[in-house]
Amino acid sequence: DIPLFSSVASYREWRRKAYDATQSVGFVATMGALHEGHASLVRRSLAENDLTVVSIFVNPAQFAPHEDLATYPRTLPHDLEVLSLLKVQTTSGVHSPSAVFVPSVYDMYPSGISQNPAEQKGTFVEVKGFGHQMEGTTRPTFFRGVATVVTKLFNVIEPTRTYFGQKDIQQALLLRRMVRDLLLSHPTPENLHIVPTARDPTSSLALSSRNTYLTPAEREHAAPTLYAALNAGRDAWAAGLRKAECIQRARELVQGKTNVLGPDGIEVKLDYIEMNDADSFEVVPENESRTSWEAEVAGRPVLLSGAMWVGKTRLIDNIILGNE
Ligand code: PAJ
Repeated sequence: DIPLFSSVASYREWRRKAYDATQSVGFVATMGALHEGHASLVRRSLAENDLTVVSIFVNPAQFAPHEDLATYPRTLPHDLEVLSLLKVQTTSGVHSPSAVFVPSVYDMYPSGISQNPAEQKGTFVEVKGFGHQMEGTTRPTFFRGVATVVTKLFNVIEPTRTYFGQKDIQQALLLRRMVRDLLLSHPTPENLHIVPTARDPTSSLALSSRNTYLTPAEREHAAPTLYAALNAGRDAWAAGLRKAECIQRARELVQGKTNVLGPDGIEVKLDYIEMNDADSFEVVPENESRTSWEAEVAGRPVLLSGAMWVGKTRLIDNIILGNE
């Protein structure tokens, strides 16, 4: 069984004994309800490091008061089972997760934590200028919550390498910038790795802990529409259409879907679909096309990302254009 630590102090004590300065430590941060997407990050860490630590912590600071903190799936026994089955063979032997860190809210937030940003006290980390676009448009304090908790987790785990999913591309890129801006050494920006999105093999739906909220009909008929819409946008961009038209093509797919499913069917509502510069996160101008973009900022990818409501569930997905 994998050693499990439920306090910062007990984890640090284990770490003092378990780590030797020459050993590399890979780290995967999660909020639990583990699925194959999380597993792909852990496997990558197992393959590249001597030790691998996984954290499971549902972080209150990244949920707005009206969001799903109370109902977010908490499945610790299942999660431990998933982790105990993960093994990767390397030249140095078989690697499996070395420790699971499951801290309490009290441990992670010694000054306390309110879900209401107006009432929050204590220390927060904000990556200014990079948290208000895309996901930040409708979740304005989300990235402050993420950056704060991940800084704390990095301070406790002190990873050599860390792995984040492309599924949450803005989160991964923002955290890499944070690591650089704060001059962190564990990890360094180069050692924050982004792992491709794991998808359902039949529907291509991006795997997500929130997919457990979906009914079978929502999962099968409605949820995969978001990725289909992004693909329509990608095809339009590849064909040379202007951004405005690419977004329009993508939107049409979702809007069409709402009609098909009808009033007694599944409610599908687009939150946003947008194209942003992968470095600055600035919105790509409406008139830009692939050719004009490549002429201006050769080699710089575009993030084509979106969020969609399926019933009461909010799903996100993205494709990186120019980075295939
Ligand atoms: P969570 O949603 O549990 O995701 C943990 C990690 O798994 C993130 O890096 C996420 O991008 C990655 N992931 C999720 N679904 C994936 C998929 N289908 N394919 C590949 N990777 C996937 O993201 C968070 O938790 C939190 O914000 C956290 C970073 C833990 C801070 O609280």
